[in-house]
Amino acid sequence: MYTASEHRYDGMKYRRCGRSGLLLPEVSLGLWQNFGLEQPLEDQKKILFAAFDAGVTHFDLANNYGNPANGMAEENFGRVLRDEFKPYRDEMVIATKAGFDMWPGPYGNWGSRKYLMASLDQSLRRMGLDYVDIFYHHRPDPETPLEETMGALSDIVRQGKALYAGISNYGPEDTEKAVAILRANGTPCLIHQVRYNLFERAPEQGLFPVLKREGVGCICFSPLAQGVLTGKYLGGIKDGYRAARAGSTLKERYLSPAQQRMVEQLSELAAERGQTMAQMALSWVLRRGEVTSVLIGASRPAQLMENLTAMEKTTFTEEEESRIGAILEGTWKSE
Ligand SMILES: NC(=O)c1ccc[n+]([C@@H]2O[C@H](COP(=O)([O-])OP(=O)(O)OC[C@H]3O[C@@H](n4cnc5c(N)ncnc54)[C@H](OP(=O)(O)O)[C@@H]3O)[C@@H](O)[C@H]2O)c1
Repeated sequence: MYTASEHRYDGMKYRRCGRSGLLLPEVSLGLWQNFGLEQPLEDQKKILFAAFDAGVTHFDLANNYGNPANGMAEENFGRVLRDEFKPYRDEMVIATKAGFDMWPGPYGNWGSRKYLMASLDQSLRRMGLDYVDIFYHHRPDPETPLEETMGALSDIVRQGKALYAGISNYGPEDTEKAVAILRANGTPCLIHQVRYNLFERAPEQGLFPVLKREGVGCICFSPLAQGVLTGKYLGGIKDGYRAARAGSTLKERYLSPAQQRMVEQLSELAAERGQTMAQMALSWVLRRGEVTSVLIGASRPAQLMENLTAMEKTTFTEEEESRIGAILEGTWKSE
């Protein structure tokens, strides 16, 4: 059975999540990829243990994470919780979500009360938990009244099945509306989970000002553009890389020749800053005051350890900012 390092809180920094009482680690770990059948459970455990030993207290899941089957990441994480992590449950912030296609028929997708309530019950069973710390609506549902979706989140919090409510992939206007409903319900929105990385900077314009004004925390997913912003793809797609996996959309999204040229130039700047490309990409996300945490993925403990040192240098000079701006010219408005 696993015993956590005594030094697990020595190096990590924690940021307050919006205007809530909850602190999150600057680097959090997501289980979207690598926690299904991609590798044996023993190797998954090594990543989870390395994370927790380094003060990564926040683990992010969703009902549909896991390869090849939805729910597999929650099942595997549940095994690790039961067999290894149990004594540490109160030191962890565990999140899950619902919003994407999960089971057949009209009640296994989107944002109805029917779907959200059933999905969270399934997630809790898979993980062997009585409650999660954060429950998110995973994406906006254009058909369901926002009052219904947010009402379900509020009731879930009141029932004690989640401690906090969050939203993900909501645009600035829908975020404002959702935040207002949750506040009126007496269950404030804790956090917004959004895609934000050097290639995809749109949240700076619309979303971040809303989150700041409303006192909502922000956790940024795919901060490494699924690995591309580590520079590893400059040598092509190799076996074992995420882009080599069946069903990956990484290539279409992040591997254009123009993006590869940008990574080359960004890597030079990273070296001048004394960082690897991965570290600089994460530091760049963490430079924003609105950001509570960067939400990374890792297929090996060594990746995680490299990425954690991004916390050491989260400021950029004006000159560095304008160099980055020039390198990425034309990508700011994507999304
Ligand atoms: N809310 C949403 O809609 C949403 C959507 C997507 C993700 N998420 C959340 O965000 C989490 C992170 O997303 P992500 O996995 O796309 O994040 P990411 O950090 O951008 O990419 C992680 C991948 O990059 C590679 N990598 C990481 N560090 C590396 C290093 N130092 N050197 C070389 N390669 C490295 C690994 O891929 P290899 O397999 O190539 O080694 C790793 O699995 C997910 O697990 C999930 O929890 C949420």
